[in-house]
Amino acid sequence: MAQPRILILGAPGAGKGTQSATISDHFDVEHVTTGDALRSNKQMDISHLDLEYETPAEYMDQGELVPDEVVNAIVDEALSSADGFILDGYPRNLEQVEALEGMTDLDVVLALDVSEDELVHRLTGRRMDPETGDIYHLEYNPAEDPAVEERLVQREDDSEETVRERLRVYRENTEPVLEYYGDKGVLERVDGEQAPDEVWEDVRAVIENA
Ligand code: AP5
Repeated sequence: MAQPRILILGAPGAGKGTQSATISDHFDVEHVTTGDALRSNKQMDISHLDLEYETPAEYMDQGELVPDEVVNAIVDEALSSADGFILDGYPRNLEQVEALEGMTDLDVVLALDVSEDELVHRLTGRRMDPETGDIYHLEYNPAEDPAVEERLVQREDDSEETVRERLRVYRENTEPVLEYYGDKGVLERVDGEQAPDEVWEDVRAVIENA
């Protein structure tokens, strides 16, 4: 396989961003993430689309999905310039699956499995470095450099209440996406509850054996 086209699925907090960073470095593919793209454009004016809200921020801060027409356009644009990629955070419903199938084929579809209690613990303890985008956790992956520790911030949607809503939205909208790829016989499941290095070993094996 030259430059693999990889899709990573999993609930909020399953470790998609953590593993995608390593996948992107190791396989030299672009990390295409709708979450980061939307966070960089949270105040984008989408009032011309005549939707419920006028910016992505209002959907995201409540843990709801940003409408498909906004997200599909972001992914279409990002994939058109990518050779290989690791796609993270998309598709999140069956309509987005259909849109993705019109954009590209996939070489690998993998999902990280993590229990709900662990997801809540990971998300409420997550901290982000606003300068580098690196992901930390207060307990599992604390910053060692005091200068980094001081500038870490919590994502606005990582409060426990919003995390619970994100998990509900995931069960309702995104679990059918995993079922879809499972029924097609292409879904590779990885135990995401192991330590990050162990998850990475399994993820790497899945991609190399594709
Ligand atoms: P998005 O940014 O995609 O968030 P998410 O899918 O909810 O996923 P997260 O980034 O929260 O978790 P992750 O799986 O990447 O975990 P991480 O590696 O950080 O989306 C945010 C919002 O944008 C959505 O709610 C929606 O509003 C909107 N949006 C995005 N895409 C959309 C779409 N397609 N359609 C519509 N709307 C969309 O890890 C979590 C924590 O756990 C970290 O602290 C990490 O250090 C720790 N950790 C990771 N792995 C391990 C491990 N193995 N052991 C212990 N700790 C670990």
